[in-house]
Amino acid sequence: MNMLVGSQKDLLKILLQIFLQLALLWGTRAEASLRKKALDLMKQAPLIDGHNDLALKLRWLYQNKLSKIDLRTLHTTATNIQKLQAGHVGAQFWSVYILCSAQNKDAVRLTLEQIDLVKRMCEDYEEFELVTSSQGIASVASGKIACLIGIEGGHSIDSSLATLRMFYELGVRYMTLTHNCNTPWAETSSERAHLFYPKTQGLTTFGKEVVKEMNRLGMLVDISHTSNATARDVLSVSKAPVIFSHSSAFSICNHSRNVPDDILRHLKQNRGIIMVTFPASFLACGQDVVKISTVADHFDHIKKVAGSSSIGIGGDYDGADRFPKGLEDVSKYPALIEELLRRGWTEEELKGVLRENFLRVFREVEKVRNESVLVKAGEEEIAPEEVKHVCRSELKPPSQNSCDHLSAGQSLLLPAMVCLLFHKDANF
Ligand SMILES: *[C@@H]1O[C@H](CO)[C@@H](O)[C@H](O)[C@H]1NC(C)=O
Ligand SMILES: *[C@@H]1O[C@H](CO)[C@@H](O)[C@H](O)[C@H]1NC(C)=O
Ligand SMILES: [Zn+2]
Repeated sequence: MNMLVGSQKDLLKILLQIFLQLALLWGTRAEASLRKKALDLMKQAPLIDGHNDLALKLRWLYQNKLSKIDLRTLHTTATNIQKLQAGHVGAQFWSVYILCSAQNKDAVRLTLEQIDLVKRMCEDYEEFELVTSSQGIASVASGKIACLIGIEGGHSIDSSLATLRMFYELGVRYMTLTHNCNTPWAETSSERAHLFYPKTQGLTTFGKEVVKEMNRLGMLVDISHTSNATARDVLSVSKAPVIFSHSSAFSICNHSRNVPDDILRHLKQNRGIIMVTFPASFLACGQDVVKISTVADHFDHIKKVAGSSSIGIGGDYDGADRFPKGLEDVSKYPALIEELLRRGWTEEELKGVLRENFLRVFREVEKVRNESVLVKAGEEEIAPEEVKHVCRSELKPPSQNSCDHLSAGQSLLLPAMVCLLFHKDANF
């Protein structure tokens, strides 16, 4: 090399510089084109997201008073209409979640109030359209966001198939069988969060009737938040594909909210989907910084175990405190799609993840409903000793009423007092 004269050395240096610049430019252009590819893909296949807790935030922050806020630009939440549009969200399941501590108290009223909130919200804003079917999602006017309603936690139906049916009539299209409390008929994955019904294991006989009734009605069965045993029982009972509306992979982060591989394989056989969720604590098990690549690791793993057609997205925005860096709010979904493109996911696979896999499940659930037209509504009741619920009235003719010997006033007062006494701490 020292045989080169000075001018040749300079030329080499310049050539090297040009080469580096070109490589850099090519790199940035490749990145820019990946972003463009992600956005183009999402324009063709707008996201159907499985879980968002904006309604809960609206109760906590604004007592459900929509007149006090502008949902287009609201900045106290991770969700607003401008951000949903920027994130290419085409359909959103709004969770009508109510706290477990309302179980056996005013759960049904509170759930009705959250359904009312979502309905008003979706009527008030022309950017939204409330839908209740796969056809409704597919045919929503271009640029509009389809609104769907999901109940999070079986405590909302107070162990009553009739209440379940009335929720369906109001437009509810999925129910998560438990939140982080057991019900008398289904076991949660969050063992120690509440003390309700500690003896419940998996899905009980009445729980199986709930799943059958959901199949008959055409309501999606959601098994996020349920225990391993409940999930396995549901997968063997349900005639229709089921969903995890917001869960991730247990093999990547062994949080009890995540799904182990054997259940992922059952899910594939059932033709259901897991809608991967973003709360940092389920993704990275205690790591401080959680990145988009961590979320992508969950996608890669589930694809390896159950195939890309078993996957969707359920961000759980406004349902948790911490989200990965780069996925902080509902405008950020394209960044995840970009990362999956970078990892070699095909456009077909990603259209499935964004939209088509969920639509397939919903259509199959509707098909099972259509095939059940001759099946009568379930009239099973839960056994009183399984509910053990002092506020629950037992409606009997007066002659059988054990309080008959009391005066009319006393017979009303006594159960009410017992109810109050027992429910100072509702967590039993
Ligand atoms: C759920 O099942 C997986 C494997 O099937 C197991 O590793 C995990 O510990 C189970 N979770 C609980 C809470 O039992
Ligand atoms: C997760 O793994 C850690 C470390 O191996 C272990 O200490 C913990 O008990 C596990 N948690 C669950 C829910 O399996
Ligand atoms: Zn949840």
